[in-house]
Amino acid sequence: MSNNMLNDIEEVLLTEEQIDKICREMGAQISADYEGKNLLLVGLLKGSIVFMSQLMKYITIPCKIDFMIASSYGSSTETSGVVEIKKDVTTPIEGYHILIVEDILDTGVTLSNVLPLLLEKGAKSVKIATLLNKPERRRCEVKLDYQGMEIPDKFVVGYGLDYNEEYRNLPFVGILKPCVYEK
Ligand code: IMP
Ligand code: MG
Repeated sequence: MSNNMLNDIEEVLLTEEQIDKICREMGAQISADYEGKNLLLVGLLKGSIVFMSQLMKYITIPCKIDFMIASSYGSSTETSGVVEIKKDVTTPIEGYHILIVEDILDTGVTLSNVLPLLLEKGAKSVKIATLLNKPERRRCEVKLDYQGMEIPDKFVVGYGLDYNEEYRNLPFVGILKPCVYEK
């Protein structure tokens, strides 16, 4: 990474304002859909935190939050297909309607592994909300209930998304210049 993170960005895909609008609309839809239900948001760490904190401010019904760490082995830009739960939820989830909050749906390996685990534990329903969706890369079928934006098959960073744990703090989503990881 150069001293200036912005030098490593090829193109901005979503500005902070565009993401805010997505969160506002998605939050309103979730509030309507889950009215009268016990809603538990489960964020997948670490990538989801910026999106989740913005989204939850626009959810106007009571809800609780929890977090999981599910990591798929592999290199920093490619997944292996094997998912390990490194941190589980601490909320007893029986009786809750769970909405998994994720930064991006890529191959689908992570979510297709995590979703059944939460159902087995007694969640009443499990749905998925992601900021970004890369449909071209799908290897496992995953039903996406709420999506912010479909993006092309490019490696993106910012707004929580990382490359080698960096760039998460960029306030927008941008395409990372391939020269940064093709070394
Ligand atoms: P999946 O299991 O392949 O769907 O990938 C899920 C995880 O891979 C996401 O939660 C991200 O952490 C990571 N990921 C996938 N695509 C990108 C990307 O373009 N930039 C940064 N992280 C990504
Ligand atoms: Mg990641």
